[in-house]
Amino acid sequence: MLLDVKGLKVSYRTIYGRLEAVRSLDFTLDKGESVAIVGESGCGKSTLGHSIVRLLPPNARAEGSVLLDGKDILKMKPAEVRMMRGTDAFMIFQDPLNSLNPVKRVSTQLMEGLALKQRKAGKTFDEKATYKEIVDGLGSVRMPDPEVIMERYPHQLSGGQIQRVVIAMALLMKPKLLIADEPTSALDVTIQAQVIKLINELKKEYGMSVLFITHDMAVAYTVANRFIVMYAGELSETGPVEKVVGSPLHPYTVALVNSIPTKSRAQGDLIAIPGSPPNMLAPPTGCRFHPRCPKVMDVCRTENPGYSQADDRTLRCHLFD
Ligand SMILES: Nc1ncnc2c1ncn2[C@@H]1O[C@H](COP(=O)(O)OP(=O)(O)O)[C@@H](O)[C@H]1O
Ligand code: SF4
Ligand SMILES: [Mg+2]
Repeated sequence: MLLDVKGLKVSYRTIYGRLEAVRSLDFTLDKGESVAIVGESGCGKSTLGHSIVRLLPPNARAEGSVLLDGKDILKMKPAEVRMMRGTDAFMIFQDPLNSLNPVKRVSTQLMEGLALKQRKAGKTFDEKATYKEIVDGLGSVRMPDPEVIMERYPHQLSGGQIQRVVIAMALLMKPKLLIADEPTSALDVTIQAQVIKLINELKKEYGMSVLFITHDMAVAYTVANRFIVMYAGELSETGPVEKVVGSPLHPYTVALVNSIPTKSRAQGDLIAIPGSPPNMLAPPTGCRFHPRCPKVMDVCRTENPGYSQADDRTLRCHLFD
């Protein structure tokens, strides 16, 4: 097992009070496994990703444990975090510009990353060889003119070029865990497909474990073996992709699956999920999905369901208690 998240709770201090963005989240990720975290906007997906690479903003508080190869990331000292981030767990952000430092040339940033990796491995830094390695890395993500790109600043690149630079960096760093947070949502459709293809190649070639964060079930389907469906900061259902998509059990997953566009489902037949995600400053009592759930029972309004198992899956729903 590579990643073991236990009782993760993340809250933000806001002017309206504390907002619990992630609550009692438990899940694991095996070596070489690729898991998609899916759920509507605001359900806590990015918060989860940021917790794993310890990049939560100062108003956030994280409790519980996030074990990466047995080491609790939440308990690491700042120097350990710097060593872990990028080399053990690498995150591609939703907004490509957030992934790179705006005041440093691409070459400087990639060199710094690789220098850290080499230091960690106890090797001496060879500038010339590293430069060549980076040019080759950019070439392997099919970046035209890698040497020209190297001398540019992030604002001189397009969103697609930045995402490719970041993926090249992931390829060079070969982290144990790659977290990709909606890596294609800021890109146009043709570039989206290329980025997904590159991530799939990284997975295959290096056996990297991938945590793919997306609100789009159809995109998740193309990268993951397993889904973790989140609703309002909590896990709703997790299991193999074929099971979760083919025979969803949790009423929220059923609704998400019904909203996936398919060839046979004409546009008018798409079933939107009624209502909207809750205000996380005042979430519903009991099961957080109860105001939108077609199967709601009395117990759902007052008691938050715990974890249960059914048909190869872990779920949180009173129907499967
Ligand atoms: N820095 C922050 N300060 C306060 N609240 C935040 C902050 N970042 C995210 N949130 C809130 O936390 C919840 C989860 O957000 P997020 O993790 O970004 O969800 P997702 O990535 O699934 O869209 C949302 O209600 C969001 O408004
Ligand atoms: S616990 Fe109740 S309200 Fe929540 S998803 Fe299950 S049936 Fe619906
Ligand atoms: Mg997000």
